[in-house]
Amino acid sequence: MTLPEHIAIIMDGNGRWASKRFLTRSAGHKAGGDNLRKLAERMNAEGFKYLTVYAFSTENWNRPAEEVRGLMSLMSDYIDRYIKDSKKNNMRICVIGDIGKLDQVLRDKIEHLTELTKNHQGMRITFAINYGSRDELVRAARKIAAAAGSGRLKPAEIDEKRFSSYLDTYDMPDPDIVIRTSGESRLSNFLLWQLSYSEFFISPKLWPDFGFDDLMEAVRSFNNRDRRFGRVDGSKA
Ligand code: IPE
Ligand code: IPE
Ligand code: MG
Repeated sequence: MTLPEHIAIIMDGNGRWASKRFLTRSAGHKAGGDNLRKLAERMNAEGFKYLTVYAFSTENWNRPAEEVRGLMSLMSDYIDRYIKDSKKNNMRICVIGDIGKLDQVLRDKIEHLTELTKNHQGMRITFAINYGSRDELVRAARKIAAAAGSGRLKPAEIDEKRFSSYLDTYDMPDPDIVIRTSGESRLSNFLLWQLSYSEFFISPKLWPDFGFDDLMEAVRSFNNRDRRFGRVDGSKA
C-alpha cells in the first residue's frame, strides 16, 4: 500500500461531538485539538510527509464571539504545547491563511514555532488559520497585479505554475486526498485550487472520534482509486 504524499483534512464535527455529551462547544474544540495532536504524532511516526488541516476559516469569524475567543485561546495553548514538544519531535509546523488578522501575541507565537521547526525533517503539518480559499486567491491576484504593475512580471509569463507560486501553499505538493469528517460533503472554502484533482473521502465520524484506523481506511480507499487526470485510464502516457 502506498501512502499518499499529502493528506488534507477538514476537521468537522467538534460542536456535534460536544452537544451529544451535553458539553460546551469549546469542550468539543478541545477534544478535537487533542485528537489532532495524537493523530499527527502517529502519522509522523508512520512516515507520512504532509498533513494540512483546516483549523479556522475566514467564515468562522461569524460564530458567536465567545466561541471565536475560545478557539483563538485554544490555538494559542496548542501552539505553546507544540513549541514545548518541538524539541522531542521532528515535525515541521507551518501556517497558511491571512494571519495578519490575528492577535499580535498569537502571530508572534506562530512565527516563533514556524522558525523553530523550519529545518525539521519529519512530517510537515500545516494549519489553515483564518484561511479561505477565495481570500487566498484574491491575495495572490493582488501580489500578481503588483508584480505586473511594477514591470517585474509580464502577463504572458503567468501560467499555472507561476500562479501557484503566489499561493500560500507555494512550496507544497497538492493534496492527494482530502478527508472531511462528520459526514458533510462540501469544501467550505478550503484549498479550491489545490484540491482540483484530489480524491475525496467523507467520514461519518465526528472529528474528535476520528483516529488512526479511520485515517488508514481512507488511505486504503485512496489506494483503490483510479486517478485518471482526464485520461482514458491511469496510464501516464
Ligand atoms: C469544526 O467543528 C471546528 C471548526 C470549524 C473550528 P465545528 O465547530 O464546525 O463542529 P460542528 O460542525 O458544529 O459539529
Ligand atoms: C469548515 O467547517 C471549517 C473548519 C473545519 C475549520 P465549518 O463547520 O465551519 O463549515 P460549514 O459552515 O459547515 O460549511
Ligand atoms: Mg462544522
